[in-house]
Amino acid sequence: MGYRSAVRMSTTPRRWRVRPATKPLRGGFSLPGDKSIGHRALILGALAEGTSRVRRLSRGDDNRATRTAFEAMGVVMRDEGDALAIEGAGLGGLRAPAGAIDCGNSGTTLRLLAGVLAAQGFSSHLRGDDSLTRRPMGRVTRPLRARGAKIEGRLDPARNDECPPLEIRGLAGGARLWELEYALPVASAQVKSALLLSGLFADGPTELREPTLSRDHTERMLLAMGAPLETLGPLTRLDPAGWSRALAPLDLTVPGDPSSAAFLVAAAHVVQGSRIAARGVCVNPTRTGFLEVLRDQGGGAVMDPKGDQGAEPVADLHVGVRSTGVLRAGARVAGELAVRCIDEVPALVAVAAVSPGESDFRDLAELRVKESDRVRALVTMLRAFGIEAEERPDGLRVQGGKPRGAEVHSGGDHRIAMAAAVLALGAEGETRVHDVGCVDTSFPDFAALLRALGADIEED
Ligand code: S3P
Repeated sequence: MGYRSAVRMSTTPRRWRVRPATKPLRGGFSLPGDKSIGHRALILGALAEGTSRVRRLSRGDDNRATRTAFEAMGVVMRDEGDALAIEGAGLGGLRAPAGAIDCGNSGTTLRLLAGVLAAQGFSSHLRGDDSLTRRPMGRVTRPLRARGAKIEGRLDPARNDECPPLEIRGLAGGARLWELEYALPVASAQVKSALLLSGLFADGPTELREPTLSRDHTERMLLAMGAPLETLGPLTRLDPAGWSRALAPLDLTVPGDPSSAAFLVAAAHVVQGSRIAARGVCVNPTRTGFLEVLRDQGGGAVMDPKGDQGAEPVADLHVGVRSTGVLRAGARVAGELAVRCIDEVPALVAVAAVSPGESDFRDLAELRVKESDRVRALVTMLRAFGIEAEERPDGLRVQGGKPRGAEVHSGGDHRIAMAAAVLALGAEGETRVHDVGCVDTSFPDFAALLRALGADIEED
């Protein structure tokens, strides 16, 4: 299957009809490759010396946007059987793209590319779809400017921040970015990665400190490729002094996406008595907070370790093997755990809606600047199902209960669409989830996999 353009031209809104589960979910499945690791493999493979081979890359639109961006800068990428071969251009080999780079819906594409492009000798222009155009970018443009980058976003008075599109002016006369010592105001792997990528091209070291450690896939991959990097928890230092500035190519099978797994794991908690197995999932501890939250509720998954894949720990996840699947308590999310389950909160909220008692989600102000304002979108979704929920500035409170079938709109956010479908399995009566085309950004096979486990979900 070839890659299509980053922006889908199909305009017919798609929707799912989901009926309540009448039997437990059963079965085993593999997931598409992790989206975050996929972005990094495409970017770092493009910057390496030599040919990288990457297998099990997500077919979602977001990874495709990153691939298309580097092809537009002259990097050759070929589908070779089950692998993608990337002819690395080296750190000095990117060419000016002919036009604007369209990142579609993908914040990771845009923010990580900003780090790479800010260090180039050519100018570029990064833009995205309506949702991405509303997302804050000052968090990357400010520290990049502090190291000499000529990068400007569009000033958005409503957000009081810079937003896409971003204009980047090439550095004149072979100039390099400067060293940078920076404390990130919020834990963000996208900001950290953008700064580390810019640091590959810089004159001096890049020293970063996060409030708590966010996903560390960039660091793991850079180390595996021979970059001069050191890490100590939330501290990262990249010092190119004396380095050949050559990244070794990758030979990588991308582990399964835990954020996609989370929705099927959540479905197995909503439908009592379910037994499912997700095979080959990335269980990097910066990504598995959702399993800890579920475990504290009396659920969770048994991890069967399967070794390392590309510097990332991998395991099969078995749900319903030891526990009866009956949840004892509501969810508690706060502090560093909030960072480690940030993308899985919508799945956890679907479970919270059918859990006993109250669930409390805090320290999640970042959720308001994802593909949608997810705090608001989740509260709206819960209320549509007849579940009591309270919106807070940095999260939400959910009163578990008995949901009724609903009409829900995704608002163009893939994780809201999937959370609604999961919750619908535990509702009384039929649910319609509108505008589900967005699920193709991360997990195009979601509905098919859920159906294969025994759920009654159809596109109509
Ligand atoms: C991502 C980092 C997170 C996450 C996003 C993917 C990444 O965003 O929510 O879905 O791949 O680096 P932030 O860096 O904004 O927290």
